[in-house]
Amino acid sequence: MSEAASEKKTEETDLHFLFQPRSVAVVGAAREPEKVGRVVFDNLIRTFSGPVYPINPKATEIAGRRAYGSITEIGAPVDLLVIAIPAPYIKAVLEEGARAGARAAIVISAGFKETGIEGARLETELAAPARALGIRLVGPNCLGVMDTASGLNASFAGALPRSGGVAFMSQSGALCTAILDWAHGEDVGFSKFISLGNKADISEIDLLPWLAADPQTNIISMYIEGISDGRAFMTAASAAAREKPVVALKSGTTNAGAKAVSSHTGTLAGSESVYEAAFRQSGVIRAATVQDLFDYALGFSSQPGPHGRRLAIITNAGGPGIMAADESERRGLWLADFNPHTVENLRRALPAEASVYNPVDVLGDALADRYGAAIKSVLADPNVDSAVVILTPQAMTEIGATAAAMTKAAAGVGTKPVFAAFMGKSLVDEGTAVLRAGSIPNFYFPERAVAMVDAMVRYSEAGSLPEETPTKLPVDREAARRILNRAEEEGKRYLVDVEALDVVKAYGIRTPRSAVASNQREALAIAAEIGYPVVLKVSSPDVLHKTDVGAVKVGVENDFELRRDYRDLLSNVEKYIPEAEIAGVVVQEMVRGGKETIVGMNRDTQFGPLMMFGMGGIYVEVLKDVSFRLAPVTTEDAAQMVREIRSRALLEGVRGEERSDTDAIIDTIMRLSQLVMDEPSIAELDINPLLAMASGSGAVAADVRILLEAKS
Ligand SMILES: Nc1ncnc2c1ncn2[C@@H]1O[C@H](COP(=O)(O)OP(=O)(O)OP(=O)(O)O)[C@@H](O)[C@H]1O
Ligand SMILES: [Mg+2]
Repeated sequence: MSEAASEKKTEETDLHFLFQPRSVAVVGAAREPEKVGRVVFDNLIRTFSGPVYPINPKATEIAGRRAYGSITEIGAPVDLLVIAIPAPYIKAVLEEGARAGARAAIVISAGFKETGIEGARLETELAAPARALGIRLVGPNCLGVMDTASGLNASFAGALPRSGGVAFMSQSGALCTAILDWAHGEDVGFSKFISLGNKADISEIDLLPWLAADPQTNIISMYIEGISDGRAFMTAASAAAREKPVVALKSGTTNAGAKAVSSHTGTLAGSESVYEAAFRQSGVIRAATVQDLFDYALGFSSQPGPHGRRLAIITNAGGPGIMAADESERRGLWLADFNPHTVENLRRALPAEASVYNPVDVLGDALADRYGAAIKSVLADPNVDSAVVILTPQAMTEIGATAAAMTKAAAGVGTKPVFAAFMGKSLVDEGTAVLRAGSIPNFYFPERAVAMVDAMVRYSEAGSLPEETPTKLPVDREAARRILNRAEEEGKRYLVDVEALDVVKAYGIRTPRSAVASNQREALAIAAEIGYPVVLKVSSPDVLHKTDVGAVKVGVENDFELRRDYRDLLSNVEKYIPEAEIAGVVVQEMVRGGKETIVGMNRDTQFGPLMMFGMGGIYVEVLKDVSFRLAPVTTEDAAQMVREIRSRALLEGVRGEERSDTDAIIDTIMRLSQLVMDEPSIAELDINPLLAMASGSGAVAADVRILLEAKS
């Protein structure tokens, strides 16, 4: 076994000691019942069958159990430490625990990074030494850890929840108590429950592979505030998502913290787009709200995945049925087209006034038998992949019996997810209890039930995509490196026009013939060589967006116009940016036709290069019609980026226009992704416009701007 593999094996074993220790020591098990250390101790001895040692130098016994002055005093091996003492004393306890053989520790105590600089210093003194001692550490500043299989409740949250298939981890302790209480009410069972606290050592990245391999866990759900190593997270998450559904809620993704940027891509890419891309490319189902997080845990842990997007809706009220249909359309689901056999069955089972097409309206006076017949018919239809059954409590509605009929019909199929939307509350409680017993989640609003189906469809589609590694395209890496080297040696931050064009050209991206003229005579010579019409652009690292200051002229037809425009461009720049350092004027081949798109990159500190594609040109920041993926992108990723933008129809050919060369766009995205993976010194990059020619005629990068990382 290779060194890396044995290290991995050890790490997994360490996590084993976190969830299934043979013995636990609680350091700081207080005599006062309300103290945190004591609550943890009481929770532990209530459900954990192995020895639990209370460490408290001031007590002889705690809750009737012998107390110890120190871990050493126990004189027996300890696998897991649970620590609830002030921060400055913890390091010594870890050293003592290591001597007793401890392999994992849960540090409940607060007073670390969350308190500021001094706390952060204390925290750095915790994590690395613990690792060096062979101890994996959860926390600090956390609620604790629970494992319903081993009965371990090493937390100061409430009682151990019911055993079930949901593994939940959260960076927020408060959200942990909320979800525990909610789960109790919804009868949702957990396999593992981890409050991660400050994540000084163990984070989602460590737990994902462990939970993915855990037989008790059917779905992994997590609340995240920040991810330190984006790449490692994506690797762990995509491997786990191949095993079972992984659901994540990420807070703090607004652009409030965005860094100062100069490129269009930098302006349009915020941390929201980074996380969206990261989750998407890892097959992680994104929860947009806390409600989604709860709903998805419930839905994924109780119903099978759908084999397609075809949804059947059954309702006893038209309005809510339409709401559900609207929501399914908004989410890209399809209303199933029933086959004639189903329609016939429905006609036979329902009154003439009922609607037998999707949504099926069984009418307000529907009793359980009508619902049962309708549900059975549509679930038997091969054109149906999932069903949402809506019930509004009318005077004659048999709520309990309808729920029972629904549970029976769903159980009869077992391969199609069925969700209920029994609307209201107290009136439908009888029904929701029956549904819960039959593992059919009830969402009080039809849109939430449809959202659940959508999440499941997203998961099964992501899982059915073939695993693809990004292909390495033939490029002239050396040529690009030479240009970047020269720029770095010259202390440049920006590469613009010809220099930047040559970098992407080295990676096989087509560019128009271009050259910089330092005076009119040279410009005329270049234009003569290229042939009119040409484009003139002022070349200056201080003029980033040339159009804004009148520093670009398209369609210069002859020498007369060239002389005139050459003068105008320079005087415009002198007027708007008098301090600009002007290197000359670029004379560039004019590219005729082509749709203006943009391909760019903005490097994210945690996740690396974020690629962007969209409709480009000078209105790019107005249109904001862009899509994102993290490099290295696969062909499928690049194809999705092109398919995803709102105005993709423009590329498919509208109003008699030819289809654009989307393959060439995809190829450009791939080549750019390869460039920015090869060259970490590139901080931001814009190709705007990438002119997409008619299908089969390629794409041309007419304007490129590269920003290099600042030298530290
Ligand atoms: N070689 C070319 N052939 C045809 N049209 C061109 C060419 N170069 C530029 N253009 C047109 O001129 C517009 C502006 O030129 P360019 O993109 O170079 O300037 P910019 O203002 O610096 O761009 P940005 O908006 O990216 O800051 C392009 O969007 C495109 O419409
Ligand atoms: Mg441009």
